[in-house]
Amino acid sequence: MATLPSTEPADAGAALAPAWLRVPDDANDLAPGLWSTTTTRNDAGELVVGGRTAASLAAEFGTPLYVVDETDARGRAASFRTAFEKEFARVGTTVSIYYAGKAFLSTEIARWMNAEGLNIDVCSGGELAVALAAGVDPARMGFHGNNKSLTEIDDATRIGIGTIVIDSPIEIERVAAAAARHGKVQSVRLRVNSGVHAHTHSFLATAHEDQKFGVVLEAAPALVAAIRSHPSLSFRGLHCHIGSQIFGADGFAESASRLLAVHADLLAGGPVPELNLGGGFGIAYTSVDTPTPVDELASRLADIVAAECETRGIPIPAIAFEPGRAIIGTAGTTLYEVGTLKPVDVGGQTRLYVSVDGGMSDNARPALYEADYAVRIASRTSDAAPALVRIAGKHCESGDIVVYADYLPGDVTPGDLLAVPATGAYCWSMASNYNYLGRPPVVAVIDGTARVLVRGETIADLLARDTGLGAGGVSTGSTSGGSTTDTSPINELKDSSR
Ligand SMILES: Cc1ncc(COP(=O)(O)O)c(C=O)c1O
Repeated sequence: MATLPSTEPADAGAALAPAWLRVPDDANDLAPGLWSTTTTRNDAGELVVGGRTAASLAAEFGTPLYVVDETDARGRAASFRTAFEKEFARVGTTVSIYYAGKAFLSTEIARWMNAEGLNIDVCSGGELAVALAAGVDPARMGFHGNNKSLTEIDDATRIGIGTIVIDSPIEIERVAAAAARHGKVQSVRLRVNSGVHAHTHSFLATAHEDQKFGVVLEAAPALVAAIRSHPSLSFRGLHCHIGSQIFGADGFAESASRLLAVHADLLAGGPVPELNLGGGFGIAYTSVDTPTPVDELASRLADIVAAECETRGIPIPAIAFEPGRAIIGTAGTTLYEVGTLKPVDVGGQTRLYVSVDGGMSDNARPALYEADYAVRIASRTSDAAPALVRIAGKHCESGDIVVYADYLPGDVTPGDLLAVPATGAYCWSMASNYNYLGRPPVVAVIDGTARVLVRGETIADLLARDTGLGAGGVSTGSTSGGSTTDTSPINELKDSSR
């Protein structure tokens, strides 16, 4: 196997590593908590997910490839629900868990969540259509969004969606009118801003938030009165979502305290059966992330809600949460193939750029939020000393980074398969066709079998909506359908969009 054409020592560039990143004793190790539950290495050192080697998956489905560990996803959905049900029952109330479909939704994933007893949150007509196509009962869905269209509101009320989250004053009239038109009484929540912003290890509490979602908490009494004035609306309670990738319970505690103060006042005007504390529970993206175990989180949150209600002398309402990332994030792993290597001198240190066959079109989070990820060679192990690497995508954008910093064996080479863990949430769902790359397939693995949940896009897909081709469209290579002239060079292309 060819080695890196560099005279640098293998761990060159360590001074460029972020402060949190440690040089691993073994750059092949799979850090606990970072990889999906069935991920392991076999005796040959190959990465195995759901009983399938990375190499066999890449050979069958190509790369980049989103691999979803079904056991992991369903297991987390089940354990989240049972842990929260147990702890909230302990304090004398019920809890509903809504899977936040925006994290990653396909009909099969919606069915998994449904089968594991989770409700589903959608935030567009498209997400609603996918959940309905999966056979999910609309009564078990919530509908979010700061600018739901009149059509979305009309559809949601007509089909009997469980709850609509009112996000701005103008929506009260819109939802009330739609429900009345369809002879329905629509359950609604009111999204408020608690002034609590939580992100990862810390939270910030302010009086007001400068953001597009929800309404200020002080406006809630008047808006709830407006909701209650409509016979076609039924007020369920307040809703709040304080952020993403939150570790610990402190941010939720502060938010629950602020919401329950208003909730208690609202009880004077009528029933308030529920409180929805949103999602945002963090997962491990790198070896230094240590999310709170779900049992501990559920126990702390139940205690916090119970204590706040006792202080205010009010009954504990039914509670709802909306986790997305905490259910599906760790279940996902993306496989890439290494194409080029480039040692780059950075102030006398070497940063090794390892470029792969995907990038910001299959994972926008590093470019969008500077999100950190980890990486390992999936097709083999190696005794080579660790080298600091930056995994870059193939897009025409210098911010197209997949992994800002991690260590790989220093003999990483073109043709190696790389695996990036924790890509189940907000990767496929934010995927794009930038540079006309087709979106990769999604494959579910379980017990040694793999099945396609969403097929990858081909060149024919990429050209399918281009009206410049006339009615016949285009076909390439093995794709059937459409009409092309036999002499067109496009017929010489492999039916791949990479
Ligand atoms: C209202 C609401 N609920 C739930 C979620 C899910 O968040 P997470 O996937 O971080 O749990 C989001 C994410 O943006 C959200 O906006």
